[in-house]
Amino acid sequence: MTDPPSDSANLKSEISNLKSAVGAVILAHNYQVPAIYDVADFLGDSLELARHARRAGARLIVFCGVRFMAETAKLVNPEARVVLAAPNAGCEMADMISAGALAERKRELGDVTTVAYVNTPAAVKAESDICCTSANAVRVVNAQPKDRRILFVPDRHLAAYVARETNRPLLDLQLAAHDSRLPTAGIVPWEGFCYVHASLRADDVERARREHPGAFVIVHPECPLETIDAADATASTSGMVRLAREHDEIVLGTEAGMCDRIRHDLPQVKCWPLRRTALCRNMKLTRLEDVQAALKGEVPDITIPGDVAVGARRALDRMMQIPGP
Ligand code: 13P
Ligand code: SF4
Repeated sequence: MTDPPSDSANLKSEISNLKSAVGAVILAHNYQVPAIYDVADFLGDSLELARHARRAGARLIVFCGVRFMAETAKLVNPEARVVLAAPNAGCEMADMISAGALAERKRELGDVTTVAYVNTPAAVKAESDICCTSANAVRVVNAQPKDRRILFVPDRHLAAYVARETNRPLLDLQLAAHDSRLPTAGIVPWEGFCYVHASLRADDVERARREHPGAFVIVHPECPLETIDAADATASTSGMVRLAREHDEIVLGTEAGMCDRIRHDLPQVKCWPLRRTALCRNMKLTRLEDVQAALKGEVPDITIPGDVAVGARRALDRMMQIPGP
């Protein structure tokens, strides 16, 4: 049940006062619920949030999103206290890989460059050479020599999209390094996926085109290639906000709450989710009360063991050095 408007207004004003009193900044991912947009200092995609966290001068960063994003904020800004407002908010895709399993696969594959999507635990980043987000995955892979074998983890759909966009072969994820059928160059995917995006199919795009014939269809690169091929454009969540400025009507193939985000900035743009039931349960966990508790010091800090932090920070720093929007 939602709060009566006056309670919610009181809570927002208390959050604003607490934030000033403790010198905090509130960073929120685009998939958060609209009440969180109202108290956030910055809304963004994974890359923008990492960049914002890095340059945040605040003593406390309250993160409204999921764990890998708050860990990234801590890694790029170790001086700040970082708190994930909803401490149980994880990412199912990030849980599809562990540092131990990655180390074993790297041993099997031999000489390989590991590119880790930021949707990974810090320990997986520490086992990787460089990170990427949905906004810069193509640029990060393009920065690697063409003759390299790249292990791209953990999203197999993003791996397939990146392989195509960088003109590199997508290799069979089952093949072992000693198998002579495994080419020395190309992209080896991991078998992970996002349950929200993997469920969005080309049929959904065709149906959306029938229902909204004038709309521009944008999908996230975590979707299967068939969905990407059926759409008009592919973009990160903030890329979707930028593209929306150029259209009167859009359909978004991503977490359904993204249309709230469009309405927040661009109320004149008509926005429909590709599928209304495409919801990320973890992204919807954060409530205003959680933000209030985080500002009052009632939520534990994000901590990352020193040896893990060194390796994970190195992989993130390499990503941050790659220029681009
Ligand atoms: P963005 O970096 O595009 O916001 O994506 C994050 C995410 O988790 C998508 O599911
Ligand atoms: Fe993870 Fe998918 Fe949720 Fe994004 S939408 S946080 S990839 S489960």
